[in-house]
Amino acid sequence: MPRTEQGVLIPGQISPQRPVPLHIKRPEYVGKPSPAQHVGGDRYDDETIAAIRKASKIAAQGLEVVLSAAKPGITTDELDRIGHEFLLSQNAYPSTLGYRGFPKSLCSSLNEVICHGIPDDTIIREGDILNIDISAFIDGVHGDTNGSIVVGDGSQEALDLVTRTKEAMLRGIRAALPGREVNIIGRAIESYAKRFDYGVVRDFTGHGVGTSFHSGLIIPHYDAPEYNTVIEPGMVFTVEPMLTLGTHDWDLWEDGWTVTTKDKSLTAQFEHTILITEDGPEILTEA
Ligand code: MF3
Ligand code: CO
Ligand code: CO
Repeated sequence: MPRTEQGVLIPGQISPQRPVPLHIKRPEYVGKPSPAQHVGGDRYDDETIAAIRKASKIAAQGLEVVLSAAKPGITTDELDRIGHEFLLSQNAYPSTLGYRGFPKSLCSSLNEVICHGIPDDTIIREGDILNIDISAFIDGVHGDTNGSIVVGDGSQEALDLVTRTKEAMLRGIRAALPGREVNIIGRAIESYAKRFDYGVVRDFTGHGVGTSFHSGLIIPHYDAPEYNTVIEPGMVFTVEPMLTLGTHDWDLWEDGWTVTTKDKSLTAQFEHTILITEDGPEILTEA
């Protein structure tokens, strides 16, 4: 239903807001137009890191649960319900639900949707690229992760894009050594993506995450020397590159959220929350 005859996605029907039991603590921004200013920087003490570890693990498990339910015929709204219920079962709050007014418990971004797709009655089809981005808030902190799959059998170019986007993320993570500037991450990602002539999305970035969902620290996925924050042990942030088969330019739907490639080319994304240790990066969003 919600696609044109050419297969281009169009907005579907969004279901009513899913409730969250009162015993699950909400982030401060829920019910407000925007979050409070982040305080305290991007380095965390051991106790807070332990909490971010727990939130990240729940998010990673949620991603696994949702992606394993993704089959041709299911709607993105049903995947939202599955993710929502999983997070609640862990006593976690779905960080996206009510974040700057976002209405759902995860982002579901198909094919030409780069990121921030809103779950709706769109039916997933064989060969679609599906990106699920899910975040958990528990004990005062967030963990944030996403992953992309090709549903059922897909084109070789879709499969390659997904595999290489994951590899690009891992290369970005491995570059995140203490003492380097955060721009090393984007340089590693872009130099790999360029081999395949992929577009590297610039205007949506990785970010500091922890006691805030987005701390204000920006992690570029392209070569951008101006982002020169030095990576230090104790820092927690995401690496979440979006690669495309065409342009890095994008359009925004009238819903104010859904970001698509301007040329409607396919796109994929992977995201981990990482902790910087003395020895290097550690992935926290592992199930
Ligand atoms: N999880 C997304 C990220 O990686 C943010 C989603 S914000 C939302 O930064 F409002 F779109 F849900
Ligand atoms: Co993120
Ligand atoms: Co995310």
